[in-house]
Amino acid sequence: MAQTGKETREETHFGYETVPLDEKQGMVDDVFHSVARRYDLMNDLMSGGLHRAWKDALLSAVHPPKSDRPFALLDLAGGTGDIAFRVVEAGGDGTRVTVCDINAEMLAVGGERAAKRGLDDRVTFEQGNAEELPYPDKSFDCVTIAFGIRNVPRIPRALSEAHRVLKRGGHFLCLEFSTVDVPGLDALYELYSFNVIPRIGQVVARNRESYQYLVESIRKFPKPKVFVRMMEEAGFRRVSYRAMTGGVVALHSGWKL
Ligand SMILES: C[S@@+](CC[C@H](N)C(=O)[O-])C[C@H]1O[C@@H](n2cnc3c(N)ncnc32)[C@H](O)[C@@H]1O
Repeated sequence: MAQTGKETREETHFGYETVPLDEKQGMVDDVFHSVARRYDLMNDLMSGGLHRAWKDALLSAVHPPKSDRPFALLDLAGGTGDIAFRVVEAGGDGTRVTVCDINAEMLAVGGERAAKRGLDDRVTFEQGNAEELPYPDKSFDCVTIAFGIRNVPRIPRALSEAHRVLKRGGHFLCLEFSTVDVPGLDALYELYSFNVIPRIGQVVARNRESYQYLVESIRKFPKPKVFVRMMEEAGFRRVSYRAMTGGVVALHSGWKL
């Protein structure tokens, strides 16, 4: 909390910077607005293609039905549609995905990609805030969020909203950068993150600051066990997580029972 005259303003982190809570979203929006057109290329370059394997692990956990049974998935902070495309391509005729993201530019790139792949009848792109979802209670069989939750200013609200829009028996899955806990790999990862990623951002996306924010925001994100508790507080049950690539990424899973 910061004192401004008689008022107290809630604060949060934007990377390593401490900022007023109600200003973070605008700063995050500027980041993704500026990188949207280079976003997918940057993901491949920064992760050496590993993000594809992490997203495939998320897809396996979603496990969309192969039959034509209706299956409605909401991909929160779904950006340019990577998760959505994987899910509809793996699922049967009844599988539909709604991509909800706050950033119109990311959604526009996603819409173009869906049209090119001929998937625009099964994937819908909608603008919305994960903290205040524009969907009725119990609308979806599954809710996913990949590399999105750490950008949301009020994470507990986003978790509660994900829980609210899930049907009973529905599955919530969160893929996010996490904490490397393998001796040796942690130092290497630190070096790579702070020295290489911002430089790739500068050369490829002409935006060093956005990628500096990215690596800092990863360090500020809660550790896996803390995030388990946050999910439980939002109402999820049978919460568990799986660390991948030595903890670079964690996949959290919880159910609405
Ligand atoms: C790192 S990208 C992830 C995109 C995609 N899920 C993927 O894995 O490639 C983070 C996304 O979170 C979105 N975002 C940030 N704050 C949000 C919010 N409050 N509600 C919905 N989306 C948000 C950004 O616009 C951006 O598209």
